[in-house]
Amino acid sequence: MNAVDQKVMKFVQKTQAYEVMPHPQSNRMYHIEISAHVIEEFLTKLKEEDVSVQRLEYTPYMRHIIANYLQQLVGEEFGEIIRGILHDRETGGYTVGMKGLTEDTEEYVMFATAITHLIGLPNFDAMSKKYYARFTVQDTDNSDSYLRQAYRLFTLHTDGTFVDEPTDWLLMMKMKEENAVGGESRLLHLDDWEEMGKYSNHPLASHEFTYKAPGSKNVDQEVQRTTFFKDNNKPCICFIDQFVYTETIEEAEYLKGLSDSMENDKSVIELKLPVGDLVMVNNLFWLHGRAAFQKDPNLNRELMRLRGRFAK
Ligand SMILES: [Fe+2]
Repeated sequence: MNAVDQKVMKFVQKTQAYEVMPHPQSNRMYHIEISAHVIEEFLTKLKEEDVSVQRLEYTPYMRHIIANYLQQLVGEEFGEIIRGILHDRETGGYTVGMKGLTEDTEEYVMFATAITHLIGLPNFDAMSKKYYARFTVQDTDNSDSYLRQAYRLFTLHTDGTFVDEPTDWLLMMKMKEENAVGGESRLLHLDDWEEMGKYSNHPLASHEFTYKAPGSKNVDQEVQRTTFFKDNNKPCICFIDQFVYTETIEEAEYLKGLSDSMENDKSVIELKLPVGDLVMVNNLFWLHGRAAFQKDPNLNRELMRLRGRFAK
């Protein structure tokens, strides 16, 4: 086995309840298969206890209660494994899904809620005014950012740039997909980016840029953020092209060069994510974006996002 493959061996394991394996599309990620009987028992338990998404929204502690339902079925080490993967600089990401056992999007929300509450707490999402956000991409859009615009590339970025709370991790789950060609999640691990050194060692790498969100995000504060910072003595990134305000031509050229360089990097992964599957990555050293969709008047794709911080 070569050194590249070693990166994704650390957490590989198999139990009665789940299997952790190298991701078929990336040597920077894992794929986790939870056994069908575990998913079925989890869904049965939710029904028996009369849990609904509304109840999770209105009674926050229920989010931890259902995380415990899942934990009882998969074992306590499961939470430690996914936390370990997300903290692991070599990888820092995984996919997991519901194996096509349900198409009920309420059950997708409950599953993602349980997973995230095993590792930390989701942040309040000001756009949806909930702890999660669902958003649809269709043929037409009249919003004020590229989030819902189907036919153009949504450039690589990190989340949480315009809020002053930590955004350690990000989860995206495919809720629905009809008449969609393209639109893959694009992902780039910072350490795979060929020109990372050029931009992280640049004098503007530690310049405090101003970030402001557009109206739809319902966040009216301004925050100052450096593009690069250190965590565990490794360079991490905070960047989104749409919400950063430059004051000089030099600053603008630095950020545009950085964005273009990432977009054109050969290590960008275009992830195929089936409906009912989710991807979770460390938001400090993974960038994410979206490929353009092919034009289709009946395009209908829905994604859910949760982002948050690690439990102390
Ligand atoms: Fe994002």
